[in-house]
Amino acid sequence: MKPTEELIHEHKAIKMMLGIMGKIAENIQNEKNVEVKDVEDIVNFLKTFADKCHHGKEENVLFPALLATGIPLENGPIGVMLFEHSQGRTYIQEMSDGAMNWKNQDAASAQSIANAMLNYSTLMQNHILKEENVLFVLADQRLTALKQEEILAKFEQIEEDVVGHGIHEKFHELLNQLKAKYID
Ligand SMILES: [Fe+2]
Ligand SMILES: [Fe+2]
Repeated sequence: MKPTEELIHEHKAIKMMLGIMGKIAENIQNEKNVEVKDVEDIVNFLKTFADKCHHGKEENVLFPALLATGIPLENGPIGVMLFEHSQGRTYIQEMSDGAMNWKNQDAASAQSIANAMLNYSTLMQNHILKEENVLFVLADQRLTALKQEEILAKFEQIEEDVVGHGIHEKFHELLNQLKAKYID
């Protein structure tokens, strides 16, 4: 397997969550029932799986390897990707704050959760397209087979150090549960 294939596989799980978030935002806007626990679980998924693990692999391993091949940081795709990761973190924080306020009976915070979910979804759908169509294509062209092996080993280390074994299965269960509840 190539490092980009592993990342594309993770994009599939993230995109499934974006679909669920779109549906939850729609339910909030239509004043249908949404459980705050689900919002908290989604925030946890985004913080751990999408940000710490997936963006961690990109920011700490793949992007530095690409910079080393001569792709510039400024005015290039890597600078844009880093900026979008940090924008995403702002939206995750808004969801997290919104969930806390919602629990404290602040009804208006539901709307801010819906907005943050829609903003995050739009940002990440486009972000994933850019990575898969531009940056990952460059990565496949520029990184030697040996370098790709090294990157995969570092990805494995991030899985162990940051996420911990067994967590991936838990997140897949969460995705299936939320999908059954909000989409199917
Ligand atoms: Fe990314
Ligand atoms: Fe990505």
